[in-house]
Amino acid sequence: MDTARNAALETLYAEVRACTHCPLHAGRANAVPGAGPLDAEIMFIGEAPGFHEDQQGIPFVGAAGQYLSELLAGIGVDRTRVYIANVIKCRPPGNRDPLDEEVAACEPFLNRQMEIIRPKIVVTLGRHSMARAFPNDKISLVHGQARRVNEVIYFPMYHPAAALHRPSLKTDVEADFQRLRELLDGKWEAEIYRALPAAEQLSLF
Ligand code: URA
Repeated sequence: MDTARNAALETLYAEVRACTHCPLHAGRANAVPGAGPLDAEIMFIGEAPGFHEDQQGIPFVGAAGQYLSELLAGIGVDRTRVYIANVIKCRPPGNRDPLDEEVAACEPFLNRQMEIIRPKIVVTLGRHSMARAFPNDKISLVHGQARRVNEVIYFPMYHPAAALHRPSLKTDVEADFQRLRELLDGKWEAEIYRALPAAEQLSLF
């Protein structure tokens, strides 16, 4: 079973590395498919590769990645035990925001990653990642609140890079990681609410 899932993930990675579905492929050094074990219970979804990720083909290896690793270590989670992906797999020029058509072109890859990994908890990092699940919400209002959609718990957070640029956000980010720890410990299952009526749950990861 895991052999089949592993093969599916390897196939997906090969397709991402060869992808030409949007113009971003022309400027990449490397596509960045994702990283982490098949049996990860938590999946983090960032925005897009930056310079260092593009150079190495691995997600979150630059300054934001270093901060993410520290945040995880701070709540006793080994980074190698979580799965990390991005909404788009190739670096936008100058690290600009992803365009809608780039997000749409990459969407099937992220959907397949979700199906293969089957995480229990999906942590969205930043508004682009959150917007795919909760298009009508504002991150400043919903960060740190868990929502169950079908069998998956979504946990929106600010992007670690946002906190590096705006240090006043660090307090919120660090408090949200503490809440994630509590969530992992099953401390507030009762508070997790169903966020959306079924009709709006369609395009969720
Ligand atoms: N920021 C992201 O959103 N993803 C990365 O992989 C690196 C930085």
